[in-house]
Amino acid sequence: MSAAVITQETQTDLSQKLIIQRPHFGLSLQGRIRIPGDKSISHRALMLGAIAQGETEIQGLLLGEDPRSTASCFQAMGAEISELNTDLVKVKGIGLGNLQEPIDVLNAGNSGTTLRLMLGLLASHPGRFFTVTGDHSLRSRPMSRVVKPLQEMGAQIWGRKGNSLAPLAIQGQALKPIHYHSPIASAQVKSCILLAGLATEGKTTVTEPALSRDHSERMLRAFGAELSIDPDTNSVTITGPAQLYGQKVIVPGDISSAAFWLVAGAIVPGSELVVENVGVNPTRTGILEALAMMGADIQLENQREVAGEPVADIRVRSSSLKSCTIAGDIIPRMIDEIPILAVAAVFAQGTTIIRDAEELRVKESDRITVMAQQLNKMGAKVTELPDGMEITGGTALVGTDVDSHTDHRIAMSLAIAALVTTGITTIHRAEAAAISYPDFFNTLTAIVN
Ligand code: S3P
Repeated sequence: MSAAVITQETQTDLSQKLIIQRPHFGLSLQGRIRIPGDKSISHRALMLGAIAQGETEIQGLLLGEDPRSTASCFQAMGAEISELNTDLVKVKGIGLGNLQEPIDVLNAGNSGTTLRLMLGLLASHPGRFFTVTGDHSLRSRPMSRVVKPLQEMGAQIWGRKGNSLAPLAIQGQALKPIHYHSPIASAQVKSCILLAGLATEGKTTVTEPALSRDHSERMLRAFGAELSIDPDTNSVTITGPAQLYGQKVIVPGDISSAAFWLVAGAIVPGSELVVENVGVNPTRTGILEALAMMGADIQLENQREVAGEPVADIRVRSSSLKSCTIAGDIIPRMIDEIPILAVAAVFAQGTTIIRDAEELRVKESDRITVMAQQLNKMGAKVTELPDGMEITGGTALVGTDVDSHTDHRIAMSLAIAALVTTGITTIHRAEAAAISYPDFFNTLTAIVN
């Protein structure tokens, strides 16, 4: 069995070029893979730990750049956070309402979750002034989705383009509770408002059109907040002011990171992989349902509950895939996995249709345009739709130069596609993977060899 040749080159502008040469025959993937901690849960553990009373202990924290941004923002506001590692991170909480006014701009880097969730906390800190920003990508992403409901609660926030783009300036206020009917199913919007509701006297409710990930609800309850959930209307109500108490959090592996290996195992002939310790919260498992619809051979093993979140090991064996249609309520449950699902669709028979996913246009990159362009450069047949993609599978891919557009999930999706591509694929700006998966290319090299 011959291996793929994977080399990394650092460019003069410090970006990384990843070169993948698939062998002419015989590449198959075998082994057990441990993935990094869940990004969403890592952010929330750091944030709630910082504003709780007492100490929070976090096991399995994701050491990606995004949670590092969260940690440094909350350190700048007075939380004591020990050195970040996967074994044990200790957060000394400063108590709700006690975030200190930082003497500099808070920088959320590439992380929408850091910026949007943090805004709910900052806006509800009366008498303190904050400024927040992010990198080039984050400064172009829409903030009005959280600024508007916060303003309805009485928040004072200023920014470019009608207060819709970072950098933003926030003058903290005592807020009033609202019932917000969100036009989009977004856990970032929901969580931002719930966090603003923590310090707000009365009942703050968010209703969303479809259920988005519920990690905030689970963790807020575990930290002692009073929350009521109406699953029939996708509504959640928090009663403030709340008091949070430090907890022990065990972060499961990130299903969004597992998804790359699940698709790799499904499309590389002769493969069998087990991805260990994957969080399988039902608000995140749309990717498993979509891959099952496509005929992927995927089994959940050793299912268990760890610190309030369902967890399993997932076995995948390669199989021939067929197209599927995904739209509607499944989309928010797999929003971050659509780039890698698009790769699976390229290797499936028939035409896969992805609709109702316009949110992809405002992620770390416009993931509809970027995935369509990059896969088409490799020889795929992907047509952009306003709210998704139409992908006709079964065309052979040929190695070429592609670009992550500094989007972590695009970089990793293209690397998986390269495993079933003839010739040499060069992925530019591959270092973006470190946002959510710093070890991705080491693991890739290990399993192809
Ligand atoms: C996240 C929610 C999702 C997701 C993002 C992380 C979170 O965004 O895309 O990577 O941790 O709340 P939206 O809720 O805005 O869709």
